[in-house]
Amino acid sequence: MGMLHGRRVLLGVTGSVAAYKACDFVRRLQEAGCEVRVVMTAAACEFVAPLSFQALSGFPVRSAVFDAQAEAGMDHISLARWAEVIVIAPASANFIARLAHGLADDLLSTLCLARLVQTPLCVAPAMNHGMWLNAATQENVSTLRRRGVFVLGPGQGVQACGEVGEGRLLEIPVLLGALEQCVGPWPLRGRRVVLTAGPTREALDPVRYVGNRSSGRMGYALAQAAACRGAEVVLVSGPCALAVPYGVRHVAVESAAQMREAVLAEVGGCDVFIGAAAVADYRAAAVAAQKLKKGADDWCVSLVRNPDILAEVAALGVGRPFVVGFAAETGRLVELARDKLVRKGLDMIAANDVSEGQGFDVADNALSVLWGDGGVDLPRQSKEALAHALLDVIVARYLAKGC
Ligand code: PMT
Repeated sequence: MGMLHGRRVLLGVTGSVAAYKACDFVRRLQEAGCEVRVVMTAAACEFVAPLSFQALSGFPVRSAVFDAQAEAGMDHISLARWAEVIVIAPASANFIARLAHGLADDLLSTLCLARLVQTPLCVAPAMNHGMWLNAATQENVSTLRRRGVFVLGPGQGVQACGEVGEGRLLEIPVLLGALEQCVGPWPLRGRRVVLTAGPTREALDPVRYVGNRSSGRMGYALAQAAACRGAEVVLVSGPCALAVPYGVRHVAVESAAQMREAVLAEVGGCDVFIGAAAVADYRAAAVAAQKLKKGADDWCVSLVRNPDILAEVAALGVGRPFVVGFAAETGRLVELARDKLVRKGLDMIAANDVSEGQGFDVADNALSVLWGDGGVDLPRQSKEALAHALLDVIVARYLAKGC
């Protein structure tokens, strides 16, 4: 289950061209298991009709403070108490300014003011880049951050006016991931997690390589799950066609040698290391400088062993992180994984059966998680849900070790 599952989310929509994207956001929140209510400002109603949000959320959309149909005319209090999370997306420069100055001149600003301190308030700015960079907006945003408001984005790119710059509403999947990181609890707050993900490519010549089928999905889901628990996350990744989770630092590499170099540069002072990458065990003995030409019917490639990154991190000695490895096996899963756990000196290993189209480049997975004197089976589920389940196990073992 993701962190948003079962949450009551109040979505505030303010006056911005990006208001139409909030319709899709309602759907994505519902798919994540949220119950959604929508409150719109008058300006937002100029961009998108409230009926759209009513149809999508399945609940009446509120805009006015004094609504004769609302229970006891106290929507600002009842909605503020109902919400477990409040997210303003898109948040206009004007709304951010009103929020920063504590104005309560419509339903949305009033309920934000009336919210309980433990209710996370998240704003996803969307405006012209000039408005975003204006000192007034920047000061307002700093004020909100200082008060514990989560500011998600904005993104960079082409704007509605045709200009290019910072100020776009985050893409909806990214925004959803960012919101998931705001709800807590954050047992890894102040901790640093370094992960590897994806495949490596071992060059044969300038255009050919030896690779594998890893999509990176398992590792990227783990990076998001670690970020949701409050960790500062560094994701060292081989080539993948996935969006990097919000707030996660991405180090792009290609070969096992580059991955090793990046990991060793990042792992100092890190608290937890997770090796989810499918690192090539071998590389070409020599990489041709020119494209190799077709010749004989057979082509023999000489390969040499790559260093084992995971084992190297586990052998770092005093101050080394809590080290979690993966084992990709096509048989004798637990036996071979336990052997890797011991041989590589790991704290924990997550074993997956990768036979018959499982594990690699598919949407779901199942894991047998092992440590010194115990283990737990995590049943087949989406890699995103599985990553949360594995992170819960990692956090429990990591904290139990007194780290
Ligand atoms: O990316 P996806 O499509 O989502 O697929 C996910 C996955 C199947 C790739 C993932 O769940 C997984 O199993 N990752 C590890 C794959 C692997 O290389 O397993 P292994 O049993 O060969 O290696 C054991 C461990 O040593 C792994 O943690 C691996 O990262 C590490 N290793 C291996 C070789 C090497 N030279 N250096 C390493 O660090």
